[in-house]
Amino acid sequence: MVNKSAQFKNMIKHIDQVPENVIKEEERLTAASPFRQKFHIEAKSGFLNDPNGFSFFNGKYHLFYQWTPLAFKKDPSIWHHGWYHLASSDLVNWEDLGPAIESDSPLDKHGTYSGSAMTVNDKLFCIYTGNTWTNTQTDDWRRLPYQVGAWMDKKNRFEKIDKPLITDSFSDCTGHFRDPKIWMHDNNYYAVLGAQRRNLTGTAKIIKSVGSDLTQWQKYGELKTDEKHLGYMWECPDYFEVDGQGVLLFSPQGLPAKGDHYRNIYQTGYFIGEPLNYDTLEFKHEKFKELDAGFDFYATQTMEAPDGRRIMLAWFGISEIDYPTTKYHYSGCLTIPRELIIKDKKLLQRPIRELKSLRKKETQINLLIDDSMSELNLTGMVTQELDFEVDLSLAEKFVLDLRADQENSHHTRLIIDKEKQACILSRKDSGVMFAEKYGTERRRQVKFQEKLHLHIFIDVSSVEIFIGKGEVVFSARIFPNEDQTKIFVQSIGGESHLVGKIWDL
Ligand code: FRU
Repeated sequence: MVNKSAQFKNMIKHIDQVPENVIKEEERLTAASPFRQKFHIEAKSGFLNDPNGFSFFNGKYHLFYQWTPLAFKKDPSIWHHGWYHLASSDLVNWEDLGPAIESDSPLDKHGTYSGSAMTVNDKLFCIYTGNTWTNTQTDDWRRLPYQVGAWMDKKNRFEKIDKPLITDSFSDCTGHFRDPKIWMHDNNYYAVLGAQRRNLTGTAKIIKSVGSDLTQWQKYGELKTDEKHLGYMWECPDYFEVDGQGVLLFSPQGLPAKGDHYRNIYQTGYFIGEPLNYDTLEFKHEKFKELDAGFDFYATQTMEAPDGRRIMLAWFGISEIDYPTTKYHYSGCLTIPRELIIKDKKLLQRPIRELKSLRKKETQINLLIDDSMSELNLTGMVTQELDFEVDLSLAEKFVLDLRADQENSHHTRLIIDKEKQACILSRKDSGVMFAEKYGTERRRQVKFQEKLHLHIFIDVSSVEIFIGKGEVVFSARIFPNEDQTKIFVQSIGGESHLVGKIWDL
């Protein structure tokens, strides 16, 4: 018998129990990385994954992320998992409020997992999954999840509710039951959670608060969707309504690749349909649609901004991918915040307008591009926003090489193919290679006549490419060499016309 419980031997409850020199050394290693992002949220060191508790409280946006600070430190192996706290008044500049909820109670002793938050009177109510393992002295470990509540006051102090809101999973589910996303409807609080049925298929379950103090909840039922066999587990579900339509956004694990779709190890996508029927939990919806066409996108969370916009963030990464930054003892960042809009039963994604405050030097472009490779980036800055329209009425294809070196032998390549009505993103020559076993190219159909709008955010180690009105978005982490500071363009089968702007960020 293997006693796996040895893994918990050096567990600590609070990050401040770790000697300061250990933390400083981790942060020093991370700071030496050439891949540190400029305008994306990253951890100072360690492992960052899902966005949590995304909310507006006390005049500010609050955002937390899953954080395992010593994930890459092997000796001593101190283990910890919690929510890290940031606040902002514009969703662009974030104040660092440090570790927030930590795995320090019997209900979350093996992980303070994902969850959400909502303003209730003058406090922020947080609900998350406390992960615990039972039977750890045997080979037959069992996951025992608790749904845990915590209150944050206006001074950002947390108090956990010491009794679980919900103990264990639904009886027809395995221990995979987590990631509550809370909302209010008709004066009742509900939360949707990801779950795994006993037949090992993924689903979503709803819990509902009983009474008004949010300390007592009941297992309300299964969200009745049309999909009985969509993967083996749904993580991070999020239910919301936009323009009178219901949306369930979630991250199903275990979808086999199908044509251009589901090429990543795990997926994120949505159902759009009629608003949820709260009596029967029926949710009539369209087919599942994948949300992002790129490589690194998972575990989304949305919130309603005070002005009514539905804003989404995602983990700009996926589990089990070994990112080149792990060498510097950190991994993961969050995507830029995106506004979600519904059009023709599809979710469109747009960079939030607040990001305009990042803009520095502006360059206008109005260029005819022929079949020679021409350099576009004239400032040599790496971090840039590109917003332009490409007119392909006389051309067959448009090629855009981002983060290219002088010879353009390394780059991240986007091809717009008019004839095939497709966009292709390749990171085959992007720089440091990783995750190659999931392929180096992603492709999406995109309908357009002659002109297509491209809106692109380039950070030190990522690109986010919004195409058309936001109907196709490619998110990709890339790890270029330091000499890859250029942009090249080329038109194939005739000239393309580019009109728009580039900003240094
Ligand atoms: C998704 C996820 C969640 C879980 C969290 C733990 O990436 O696996 O389901 O709550 O990460 O960090």
